[in-house]
Amino acid sequence: MSSEAPTILIVEDERIVAKDLQQTLSGMGYTVLGLAASGEEALARAQPQRPDLVLMDIRIKGKLDGIETAELLRRQCSAPVVYLTAHADEATLERAKKTEPYGYVLKPVKAAELRSVIEIALFKHTMERQLRERERWFSTTLRSIADAVLTVDLAGQVTFMNGAAEQLTGVQLQEALGRPAREVLSLQEPASAPLEQALAQGRPITLKQAVLAPPGAGTRLVSHSASPVVDGGQTLGAVMVFRDITEQKLQQKQLELSDRLASLGTMAAGVAHEVNNPLAVIVVNSTHIQEVLSKALASLGSGEPADGDLLRALQSAQQAQAEIGVSAHRIGRLVSDLRAFSRPDSEPAGTADVARAVAWALRATSQEFLHRASVRCAVQEVPPVAMDESRLGRVLVQLLLNAAQALPAGAPDAQQVLLAARLDGERVLLEVHDTGCGMSPEVLDRAFEPFFTTRAAEGGTGLGLSVCRELVLAAGGEVAAQSQLGSGSTLRVWLPRARAVAAPPPPLAPAPRRGRVLVIDDEELVLRAIQRILKEHELVCVRSAREALSLLERGERFDVLLSDLVMPGMTGMELFQELQRSYPEEARRFVVLTGGALTRRIADFLASASCLRIEKPFEVEQLQRVVQQVLTFSAPP
Ligand SMILES: Nc1ncnc2c1ncn2[C@@H]1O[C@H](COP(=O)(O)OP(=O)(O)OP(=O)(O)O)[C@@H](O)[C@H]1O
Ligand SMILES: [Mg+2]
Repeated sequence: MSSEAPTILIVEDERIVAKDLQQTLSGMGYTVLGLAASGEEALARAQPQRPDLVLMDIRIKGKLDGIETAELLRRQCSAPVVYLTAHADEATLERAKKTEPYGYVLKPVKAAELRSVIEIALFKHTMERQLRERERWFSTTLRSIADAVLTVDLAGQVTFMNGAAEQLTGVQLQEALGRPAREVLSLQEPASAPLEQALAQGRPITLKQAVLAPPGAGTRLVSHSASPVVDGGQTLGAVMVFRDITEQKLQQKQLELSDRLASLGTMAAGVAHEVNNPLAVIVVNSTHIQEVLSKALASLGSGEPADGDLLRALQSAQQAQAEIGVSAHRIGRLVSDLRAFSRPDSEPAGTADVARAVAWALRATSQEFLHRASVRCAVQEVPPVAMDESRLGRVLVQLLLNAAQALPAGAPDAQQVLLAARLDGERVLLEVHDTGCGMSPEVLDRAFEPFFTTRAAEGGTGLGLSVCRELVLAAGGEVAAQSQLGSGSTLRVWLPRARAVAAPPPPLAPAPRRGRVLVIDDEELVLRAIQRILKEHELVCVRSAREALSLLERGERFDVLLSDLVMPGMTGMELFQELQRSYPEEARRFVVLTGGALTRRIADFLASASCLRIEKPFEVEQLQRVVQQVLTFSAPP
C-alpha cells in the first residue's frame, strides 16, 4: 500500500463496470486495493487492507447488499463509504442514510464529479478522525488528573465527571449524568452551590472550601473552584474542579498544636525549675515539723496530765501541717504535669506493669466515684509496656478524673465507668469508658488541645488530656477519643510493649549506715531542709561547686556528694565532670538534685551521665534512701 496515494476498495459485481472504474481511479492517482464482487468478499478484503475509502454499489451479489455491507464495514474498520449506484428511490436512500455515508453518487458518473466526491469524503473523514482523537485525548486527560472535575450544562445538570469526582462524591458517572449537580455533590451548605453561582454570575468562583457529605461515607473537606464554560461568547455550561483537603487540614492542625506545645514546654520547664526549689523546702520542712509535732504530742501524752490548751494547739498545728503537706503535694503534681510538656524530657522511658498502674490509678481516684458511678475493671493479662509506671498511672488518673467529672453526682448505680486493658495486635490497649455527658463534635475535636476546657468554672485547667497525649506519644504510643453527646465517651491509649529486659536483682536491705555527706546548693533554704532530713549523718554544706572542689583539694573526703544542678558559676554538671577527671572515687558517690531538664545541655547530661539523681521536689524518705544506697555501694568491703 502506497503511503501517499489514498487507497480505495471497489465493491461492484459487474466486472466490466468495476474494471472501468479501477482504470479511471488509477488514472486519477489513487491506489485501487482490489475489486470485490460481494459483501462477504468486501468484508474479507477490508479487514487486512484497511482502505482509505470504499466505493460501494448497492445491488451486489451474495447475501448482503451494499447497504448492509457498509453498515458492517463501518463497525469493523471505520472506512468511509461512498455509494455508487443506479438506484435513487426514496426507500433505498433512507436506508443508505442510516449508515452515514460520505457520498451518494448516481451512475453513470463523470470522472471529475467522482473525483470531487472522493476528495471531499477523504477530507471529511480525516477531519473527523482528528476530532475524535482530540476528544479522546481531552477526556483521557480529564479522567486521569488527580483533581476531581465535574461539568454541567446550562440547566445545572451533570454532563461529565472524572474518576476523582466519582470517588469523592461516591456517585458513578452513569448515575450522575443528567442529574442536578447539587444532588450529586451533596455539599453540606448547598446555598453556596458553586456551579450555579458561576453560571449566574458568568465569572469564575475561585478557591472556596466546603464540606462534602456523601451518603454512607465520612465527611470530607474540599477546596473547589467553578467557572462558566464559554465558547464564542455563548455560555455552554460550567465546570467545577475540586480536591480533598481533609488530610492536609489535619496535618496543619497537628503542626499548629505541636508548635504551641513546643513553646509551652519551654515555659513549663522554666516554671518547674523555679517552683521546685521552694517546693522541696516546703515538703521537707513540713515532714520535719510533722516529726517534731508527733514527738511533742507523744511526750505530752506519756508524761504528766497534759495542759489541755497546749495539747489542742499542738493537735491543731499538726492538722495545719498535714494540710500544708497535702497542698504541697498537689503543687508538686501540677508542676510535674506541666513538666511533662518540657522538651527535652529528662525522665527515663522505663517500663510499667499495667495491672499495678491500673490498681494505683483506681485507688487514687476512688473518692471521685463514690457518689457518681460504679467502676468496673477488666484488665486482661498483658505484657509490661514501654512507659514509666508513674507516668502511666498519671495518664490513667487523668482519664478517670475526666470520666468522673462527666458523670452527675447522685446516681452511682445508674452510671458506669469501665477501665479495660487488653492486647491489641502488638500493642497494649487501655480504655476508659464512661456513660457520662459525652462531647459534642466541636469539643471532641479540641479535647486534646492544651488549655482547652469546658470546665473552667469548676477549676479545670484543660491540661489533663494534653498531658496524657504528650506522655503517651513520648512513649511511642497513641491516644484517641470517641464520644457521643449525651451518651458517653471512650478514651483509648495504645502503648508499645516494653522490650524484654532481665529483671533487676532484688534490692539489698542493709542496716542503715552513718556517713559523711557534702551538700552543694546555692539556696540557703534548700541546704537547711537537707540538713534536717539527713541529721543522722555528718553533714558539710557549701554554697558553690568551687567551695566543694577546694575542700577536696585540701584532702577532705566524703561518702556522699549531693549537689544541685543549676548554680551560678560552676554548675553541677561541670563539677561532676571535674570529679570524673580529678577525683573519680568522689564521682562515683555523686548524687545530683535536678529541678527538671531546663536546657538541651542539661537534658543531654541527664540522659548520659552515670551519676544518681533525685528530682525536686523530693520526698524525705527518697533522699534518705538514695544516700543510704550510695553509702552501701561505696562502702569498703
Ligand atoms: N470523659 C469525658 N466526657 C466528657 N467530656 C470530656 C471527657 N474527657 C474530656 N472531656 C472534655 O475535654 C475537655 C478537656 O479535658 P482535659 O482533661 O484536657 O481538661 P479538663 O478536664 O477540662 O481540665 P483538667 O484536666 O485540667 O482538670 C474537658 O473540659 C471536657 O470538655
Ligand atoms: Mg481533665
